[in-house]
Amino acid sequence: MDLTREEESIFNGEQGEGAQKAMELVVALGKIYEAQDLIDITSAHLSGASYKTIGDGGLKYLDDMVKSGAKVSVPSTLNPVGMDRERWKEMHITPQFAEKQLKIIDLYGKMGIKTTCSCTPYMGDNVPSFGDHVAWAESSALSFVNSYIGARTNREGGPGALAAAILGKTANYGLHLDENRKPTVVIDADIDGSVFSYSMLGQAVGMAIGGGVPYFRGIKPVVEDAKTLSAAMAAAGSVALYHVEGVTPEAGNFDVSDLDVIHIGKKELQEAYDKLNTTDDVQLIALGCPHLSVKEIHDIAMFLKGKKKRNKDVEVWFCTSSIIRDQCPEDVRILEEFGPVLADTCMVVAPIEGIFQRTGTNSAKAGNYLPTLCSQKAMCRDITKLMDVIL
Ligand code: F3S
Repeated sequence: MDLTREEESIFNGEQGEGAQKAMELVVALGKIYEAQDLIDITSAHLSGASYKTIGDGGLKYLDDMVKSGAKVSVPSTLNPVGMDRERWKEMHITPQFAEKQLKIIDLYGKMGIKTTCSCTPYMGDNVPSFGDHVAWAESSALSFVNSYIGARTNREGGPGALAAAILGKTANYGLHLDENRKPTVVIDADIDGSVFSYSMLGQAVGMAIGGGVPYFRGIKPVVEDAKTLSAAMAAAGSVALYHVEGVTPEAGNFDVSDLDVIHIGKKELQEAYDKLNTTDDVQLIALGCPHLSVKEIHDIAMFLKGKKKRNKDVEVWFCTSSIIRDQCPEDVRILEEFGPVLADTCMVVAPIEGIFQRTGTNSAKAGNYLPTLCSQKAMCRDITKLMDVIL
């Protein structure tokens, strides 16, 4: 790889141990993916923030990074953590877990990372612009900013994103390069246009193609739709970039006339639905994967307004970021009559296993991960159908 003199001096440890460790990791990744050089980034978003997912090993890694003087050099945000910082007792979190979780947040903060902890920072305090090179982890968020905004990031892992954040640089390969942003398949989509149908569409496409760069025709996603579509395709497959004809900023750059076309309609959506639904009976209904937007909170509040929670045996969690929660106190008050509006955490990265066994969600991403990461049977339905369980 071609390193500048400045980059070589970091690699040789002349600018501190933290920066050296970061450079070693970014260069190692660059060599694996045959990058020619490094590229400047404008922001980073880090995963690996929940004590449940990183454990004591991750805690020690972060502690070592802080002790070595590591600091981020570009605006950087953090993914959801394993609990709401104030309301963790309502999530049945133990004091032992809470203590370790707070320590992790503190360590990230010491490195200069904003600790708002959301998987939708593009609706809050980290909003890239078209053409920006960034280093984002969190598969749903990076797919959203790649596709809907036209920023450029690879599917970073937690340590790679942290290293890039420290350096303000990442290895220049993959989706940073024009040639890898071309569509690989056309998806003719036939859906009803509800947010839930976008979730099932993402699941069906992930199941059909696995990876690649799909080019959609027949849909007009708004932010909430694209948020759930991005999450679903990244969880059911490994899609990190897609284009939507007439909607996403790069879609007009490509001639797709020679590409294979896959039709996704009723049959494929039903197969996606069947795969994600493994129970009809839940103990927890958790909404907000990815984190709820102001509009989604408002829509849920309007649906619930004037209704009563009759089934007290089923808990309801609404997950969003603290930034979003603070923006809509009136709607939050309505939701709180049905269950806590939890900030900066989610049903997947919280340690719900051992507390619940059966969880309802309207998200295909959560529908994929609840069984594998949380030992849950899942019920994956539209919000109004989920709410039938408690009303
Ligand atoms: Fe976000 Fe958790 Fe879903 S991090 S995308 S709410 S699994």
